[in-house]
Amino acid sequence: MLKVSVNPSSQFVEKALKAHDTLYGRSGAGNDFLGWLDLPANTGEDIVGGIESVVADWKSLGVEVVVCIGIGGSYLGAKATIEALQHSFAASMPSKAMQIVYAGHNLSELYHAELFDYIADKNVACVVISKSGTTTEPAVAFRAVKGFLEKKYGNEASCRRIVAVTDAARGALKTLATEKGYRTFVIPDNVGGRYSVLTPVGLLPIALAGFDIRALLAGAASMAKVCEERKASNPAVLYAAARQEQYASGKKIEILVNFVPKLQYVAEWWKQLYGESEGKDGVGIFPASVGFTTDLHSMGQYIQEGERTLFETVISVSKAGRELVIENDPANLDGLNFLTGKHFEECNLMAQLGTRLAHQDGGVPTLPLEIEKIDEFNLGELFFFFEAACGISAYTMGINPFNQPGVEAYKKNMFALLGKPGYEDKAAALLERLK
Ligand code: PA5
Repeated sequence: MLKVSVNPSSQFVEKALKAHDTLYGRSGAGNDFLGWLDLPANTGEDIVGGIESVVADWKSLGVEVVVCIGIGGSYLGAKATIEALQHSFAASMPSKAMQIVYAGHNLSELYHAELFDYIADKNVACVVISKSGTTTEPAVAFRAVKGFLEKKYGNEASCRRIVAVTDAARGALKTLATEKGYRTFVIPDNVGGRYSVLTPVGLLPIALAGFDIRALLAGAASMAKVCEERKASNPAVLYAAARQEQYASGKKIEILVNFVPKLQYVAEWWKQLYGESEGKDGVGIFPASVGFTTDLHSMGQYIQEGERTLFETVISVSKAGRELVIENDPANLDGLNFLTGKHFEECNLMAQLGTRLAHQDGGVPTLPLEIEKIDEFNLGELFFFFEAACGISAYTMGINPFNQPGVEAYKKNMFALLGKPGYEDKAAALLERLK
């Protein structure tokens, strides 16, 4: 079970409990986007079995590489889970599992051209994920991947190699999927992108990569029960209260810290969840992340002595999962024999404890979180915990956690600059500004 070792003052716990009432009473702004609260309990055999049948089908086709197309909430949860669970060197090791590669999460020509270099000679399938079905980045990438598959396998056979995850009825992707006869999974109307890791948005790529989505859902279900309880020891209430207390004391930036590189994309997923949910109306904690001890040698100086507006939330993992012991060296030229017999992880733990104390001395408080190990169950718990705490934290500030009006601003400019019909006036004004 996830441990949250924070001790916020009762004033902030009270505020967080009120926000918990708003979230679970389903009475706050954005309450038509609370479907994620029910996903762990309501994701049944129809969805899990359907996903497993795609996995079996693509295995029978000998698929080696799945191009997973999506951006933001439509890819980060899957990537976070897969990176955390797979071998650190999976891409270069022989494996029976399908390899997941990503597209449509940027518009780089170089990235996408190199992706086609990589998949040219592989046995390829594609999952395209977009709730709105109209997001430019994945739509452009899908046009290219669809063309590649149709050329390689023919129009009819390529349909079996494409699955769309999108809205039940709306959007260009839904229209295309219906027209072409692709298999589809639905993103429920009441689940926003960044809360969708436990829908087929996350579950399908995770299952294709060979991981146990039933255990992921079980972990989330167990945490859902804990987070539902209205009490001061609820970990989501405690974390929300603790971070709001930090914010009120002038700590504007929260850095999510890990000491295991496999958790890098969990931090990317978390940044989107908190940044997009809380950063509006001129307020919100800025979510950042670092991986230690690596970044102690790059960002460590700033964290220790730069502007004092930071606090850290540290995810530690109690069981390393593998063993590597430091051996004795009779010559001891490096002077490290005092470490003989110690595990790498003991050094990692002492680095964690030493860093916590050093940063406390430097005015950077730590909120410690601990998971038992990196597996599907623990990740399911962690995802649900962060989602519940995010809803509570945003409501504590009076913010609607479930909209993202600011994301539209760049899109309108991009469409205008690209010459999309209907944007002519805007384009003229923007071009004037760019002179
Ligand atoms: O959390 C969100 O709502 C966003 O990050 C979306 O997931 C992202 O913009 C992608 O949108 P869509 O799934 O509609 O293509």
